[in-house]
Amino acid sequence: MSIITNLTRMWLTRSFKPFTFTNEYDKVLSYEDAENLGLYVHIPFCKSICNFCPYCKTVYSKEMCNKYIDALIREIHMVGKMQSSKKTVTSLYFGGGTPALAKDRIKEIIDALNKYFVITQGIGVELHPDNVNEATLKTLKDAGVTKISIGIQSFSEKFQSVLGRKTVNTQVIKDVLSKVKFETVSMDFIFALPSQSFEDLKEDIDTAFSIGANHIAIYPFIDFTFTKSPVKTMAKKDKRKLLDQITNYCYFKGYTRDSIWTFSNAENAKYSSMTRDNFLGFGCSATTLLKDRFKINTFSVEEYCKRIDQKLLPTSLTIKFTLRQRMIYYLFWTAYSTKVNEKDFEKFFGIPLKKMYGKELMLAKALRFVTYKNGVFEMTLKGAFYYHYYENYYTLAYIDKMWGIMRKEAFPEKIEL
Ligand SMILES: C[S@@+](CC[C@H](N)C(=O)[O-])C[C@H]1O[C@@H](n2cnc3c(N)ncnc32)[C@H](O)[C@@H]1O
Ligand code: SF4
Repeated sequence: MSIITNLTRMWLTRSFKPFTFTNEYDKVLSYEDAENLGLYVHIPFCKSICNFCPYCKTVYSKEMCNKYIDALIREIHMVGKMQSSKKTVTSLYFGGGTPALAKDRIKEIIDALNKYFVITQGIGVELHPDNVNEATLKTLKDAGVTKISIGIQSFSEKFQSVLGRKTVNTQVIKDVLSKVKFETVSMDFIFALPSQSFEDLKEDIDTAFSIGANHIAIYPFIDFTFTKSPVKTMAKKDKRKLLDQITNYCYFKGYTRDSIWTFSNAENAKYSSMTRDNFLGFGCSATTLLKDRFKINTFSVEEYCKRIDQKLLPTSLTIKFTLRQRMIYYLFWTAYSTKVNEKDFEKFFGIPLKKMYGKELMLAKALRFVTYKNGVFEMTLKGAFYYHYYENYYTLAYIDKMWGIMRKEAFPEKIEL
């Protein structure tokens, strides 16, 4: 598997150089010129831990959560003060973990960020279905939250038990969502679970939109090597069939596909913390992507708080990208939205896309992975499947390796991918 990702990386970056992350980190982050900058805040606490989940999280305790948020707010001030004036940013997303466990302090975090940033495209928070009650949603809305994403996974008891989760009470969710309104109400699902059929997923999709979602995200199940899930992944051809069936069904219903895995039934319903050119991340495991830099914070809550106490950034690893590496990173995440716009690429890098990757794009077009119209390359169904397939490789070859190490070591010396 890593042969495929290594060869692709060498081909696209025109270099044998691996991606090398080291513990030498920048004391100052330079983000003042970054356009399309988004913000991300990580809250790594959950009431109980799901065995399939790769994210940085630990079991919730009120004391630890409060200590962590004190440190988080100090990180925001530390980074915020590195610029000379208030910076306009796109959106702010809270992810986790289960950020709603810290609902009473979300406003404090947003207030700290508002001191340094002008957020123009709304604020999103991830929720566990247990968090969907009137009081929590009202607290979040009063704090300025405009979008929520609920981790449903499946409405079927069978698949919830495969994942080791409780059945979701759809009536409660429907009632609460009818009382407290948000611009985007997204619901997360996992597909390609053993024996899962298109009928099962169709029911999940229909139920989601009927109980108050205006946006859904359907992620393929990924079996990370370091998680303890007994669930096995589905065979490639069955997964492809399911992905095509889901996509065709959503198109048939008139939903808009706004990224590989997401569909919406309303124009302003958007939920994505991934497809942004640059972003600043705060908290454990949060990543920051700038013009030629990528950094990732430590995964250890304890070490995170210690670094902040020492008035140091909690960065664990940093990579300084070569231009080609940054282009590949840009294209990979922009392709996630299923479209790559030539003008946007040229604006970001100052070089025409076709000059850098003309041959590859022509090949992708000849193979019917993409279509080309008015300066925009758009993925076909086939292209979307192969992107998904490659992303799966990428996730297992890069993210699995990196996160596998970082969850054990707070500050590794170096990681080569
Ligand atoms: C941080 S959780 C969402 C909020 C909340 N913690 C919850 O679980 O309900 C983010 C989402 O990642 C997805 N996810 C987690 N582990 C996954 C895996 N192994 N494969 C695919 N998707 C996964 C799930 O859909 C989950 O809702
Ligand atoms: S899936 Fe959600 S609730 Fe479960 S461990 Fe991961 S972050 Fe926590």
